[in-house]
Amino acid sequence: MLRASMTLDPAAVVAPVRRRTFGSFVEHLGRCVYTGIYEPDHPKADDQGFRTDVAELVRELGVSTIRYPGGNFVSGYRWEDGVGPVESRPRRLDLAWHSLETNEFGTNEFMAWARAQGVEPMMAVNLGTRGIQEALDLLEYCNARGSSALANLRRSHGAVEPHAVTMWCLGNEMDGPWQLGHKTATEYGRLAAETARAMRMIDPDLVLVACGSSGSGMPTFGEWERTVLDLAYNEIDMISAHAYYEEKDGDRTSFLASAVDMDRFIDTVAGIADGVKEAKGGTKDIAISFDEWNVWYITRPESEVPKSEWPRAPRLLEDVHSATDAVVVGSLLISLLRHSDRVHAASLAQLVNVIAPIMTEPGGDAWRQATFHPFALTSRHARGDVLRATVDSPRHETARFGGVASVDAVATWDAEAAEGALFAVNRDPSESIELTVDASALGRIALLDGNLLGGVDLDSRNTAAEPDRVVPRPAEVRVGGSRVTIALPPASWAMIRFTRE
Ligand code: AHR
Repeated sequence: MLRASMTLDPAAVVAPVRRRTFGSFVEHLGRCVYTGIYEPDHPKADDQGFRTDVAELVRELGVSTIRYPGGNFVSGYRWEDGVGPVESRPRRLDLAWHSLETNEFGTNEFMAWARAQGVEPMMAVNLGTRGIQEALDLLEYCNARGSSALANLRRSHGAVEPHAVTMWCLGNEMDGPWQLGHKTATEYGRLAAETARAMRMIDPDLVLVACGSSGSGMPTFGEWERTVLDLAYNEIDMISAHAYYEEKDGDRTSFLASAVDMDRFIDTVAGIADGVKEAKGGTKDIAISFDEWNVWYITRPESEVPKSEWPRAPRLLEDVHSATDAVVVGSLLISLLRHSDRVHAASLAQLVNVIAPIMTEPGGDAWRQATFHPFALTSRHARGDVLRATVDSPRHETARFGGVASVDAVATWDAEAAEGALFAVNRDPSESIELTVDASALGRIALLDGNLLGGVDLDSRNTAAEPDRVVPRPAEVRVGGSRVTIALPPASWAMIRFTRE
C-alpha cells in the first residue's frame, strides 16, 4: 500500500466556501426543461406543471444557483417568445440543437420554479443574434420596480414582484465557431463592455459575467481572455470558463487526472486577469465564473443533434455516467473549492437529463446518476472556510498531463459549528493509497462519518431499472488523537466529516 500525508490547519484559509460554487444549469436543450423539470401531464406534476419528484432531487442535490436559458440556445433566443399567454407563444426553430422550441416554458415559469426550489437564478442574454437593446429589455422586464412599459408588461403576465436577478451572463461561448453570432475577441469585448455599461445604467449592482473561453483547448485560449478583459475590465465582475472532460481512447489514467487541466485553466485565467488589472492600474480582481463544467462524452451518438427533423424535446446529450465519472466529478469539485479565492461561481452542466446528475423518464421515474453523489455530498458538507491542503503524495504517469500527484484533496472547516470536511481523491487507477491527515492544529478529533465512491465496479451506472447501483458506501477511516487515516482504493473519491473531540 502506498502512502500520502497532509496537514490540516484551520488558520490556512484560502477563502470562505462560496455557495455559488454549487450552481447548475438549465438550458432549453433536449429534455432538460420539457419532461425534465417541467411536465404538466406527469402524475407528480404540481399545478404549475413542475415535476415534484425532480424538485425533491434538486433540493437534495443542494444546488445554489441555476444558469438559464442557455447555453448555445440563448444565442438565438428571443425572450419575448417565452412570456405572456402560453396559447399565443410562437413555436420556433432552435438552430443550436435543431429542435422545435414551443416556448411553453419561459422566463416567468423559470423564475417561479427557481423560487420554489430556493435557488438563485443566473440569467444569460443573447449577444449572438441580438444585442444591447434586447439585453436591456430583458433586464427591465425582470428587475424593474417602477411603472415602465416592460415592468408593467411583466405584471400583466402575472409576475407582480420583480425577479431581482443579480447575476447576468453577457452571451454564451462567443469564442466558439459553432455559436450563432460567433465573434472575434475584439468584436465581443466591445459588445460585452457596451452591454454591461448599459445594463449598469439600470442597476449598478449587477454581477456581470463576460464570456471567457469555451475550453482550454480552444486555439484562441488566453488571447481571447486578454483581449476581452482589456476591453471590458472596467465594466464586468467575472469572466467565464467552460470545461468538459471525457475518457478518450480508453485512457482512463489521464481522464482520472482531468482536474489537472481545470487547475491550470483557472490559474491561467487568473494570471491573465491580474496582468490586465496591473496594466490598467485597476483596483478590482476579476473573478471566475466556471459556469459550465462536467463529464461529457461529446463524441458519442447521444450528443448527435437531429439532422432533418425538428423534434420537440428530443433525447439529447443523455450521457449515463459511471462510477469513474463520479470520481472525476468529485475531483473537479476539489479543484473548484481549492480555487474559492478566485472562482466565485460555478455551474454543473446541466441539471436534468442533459449530461445531468438527475435523470427522468417522461411519465415515469426520476433518479440520481452516479455523479449526483459527489456533488450532493460536497455541497452539503463544504461549510465555513476552505483550507489550503498540501498533500505529500506518490505520483504516477499520465499520457495527457505527464507525472501527476496521485492523491489530491481539499478541506473545509466551519469554526462556528466546529465541524470539518475533507474531500480526497486517489487518481491512480491501479494503486491503493493510505492518506494520513495530521490535524494537530485542531486538537483531538472525532469522526462524524466517511463516504467512499469508486474503487470497485468502475463501469457501473445508475439506470431507471437499477437507480442505486452506484451509491456512496462507508469509507475505511481510522482516527487516533489528531491523526486520521483513510484508505483510498484505486480510482476512488472520499469525503469524511469530523469534529473536535
Ligand atoms: O452544456 C451543453 C452545451 O455546451 C452548451 O449549450 C454550450 O454552452 C456548451 O458548448
